[in-house]
Amino acid sequence: MERKTDELLEHDADGIREFDNQLPRWWLYGFYFTMLFAAAYLVNYHLLATPLVGQAGMVAEYEAEVQAAAHLVAARPKPPAASLGAATDADTLKKGEALFNSATSLCASCHRADLGGLVGPNLTDDQWLNGCSVTDVVTSIRTGNPTRGMLPFGSNTRLGDEQLLQLASYVLSRRGSAPPNPKPPDPERDKACN
Ligand code: HEC
Repeated sequence: MERKTDELLEHDADGIREFDNQLPRWWLYGFYFTMLFAAAYLVNYHLLATPLVGQAGMVAEYEAEVQAAAHLVAARPKPPAASLGAATDADTLKKGEALFNSATSLCASCHRADLGGLVGPNLTDDQWLNGCSVTDVVTSIRTGNPTRGMLPFGSNTRLGDEQLLQLASYVLSRRGSAPPNPKPPDPERDKACN
C-alpha cells in the first residue's frame, strides 16, 4: 500500500505541526549502526578480559591506575611528627627537657625535675588524667587545668606548636623512669593509659 506523504498529524505544539513521513534510509542505517556499535563496544570493553580492539581492558587499566597511585602515595612527603607520635630524637628531647626545667614554663616546680609529681601529678607512671597520646599531652599543656592548679602552658607563657611537641615528647620519653618517692596517683581521677 502506498503511504501518503507530507500528511500533517493532528497534534500541534505551540503552533509547531509535524508530518508522519518515513525516516530516510541513510538516517535509519546510521541509527542501526550506533546500536550495533554500542553492543560491540560493550562486549569489547566491558565483558572481554582482553579486548579485541583497543588497549589493556578495564581490569588491567584499573590495576595500572592503582599501581600508579600507590607510587604517588609512597612518594608523598611524610606528615609532621606531631600527627604521628612523640619525637624521640635526642635534640628534640633535650629542648623539651630544657623547657620543662625553665624558669618561664615552671613545669618542674610542680611536677618535679624528675617528673615524679609534687603539686601536679606524677608524669612517669601509667595513670593519666587526660590521656597519654602526644595529642592528649599537648592539649593538657596547652589548656592546663586552672581550677586544679595548672595554668595554660604551665605558667601562661605561650608556647608554639614546636615547643609543645618538644615538651610532650620529653614528658612521654620519661614514662616508666620510676623516680624515687613519686606522688601517689589520685585514686579518684587517675585512669590507666598504656
Ligand atoms: C602550678 C603548678 C603546675 C605547673 C607550673 C605545671 N603543671 Fe602540669 N599539672 C598540674 C596539675 C595540678 C595537674 C593536674 C590537672 C588536672 O587535674 O587535669 C597537671 C597536669 C598536667 C598534665 C596532665 C597529666 C595527666 O595525667 O593527664 C600534663 C601533661 C602536665 N601537667 C604537664 C605540664 C607541663 C609540660 C608543664 C610546663 C609547661 C606543667 N605541667 C606545668 C600542675 C602544674
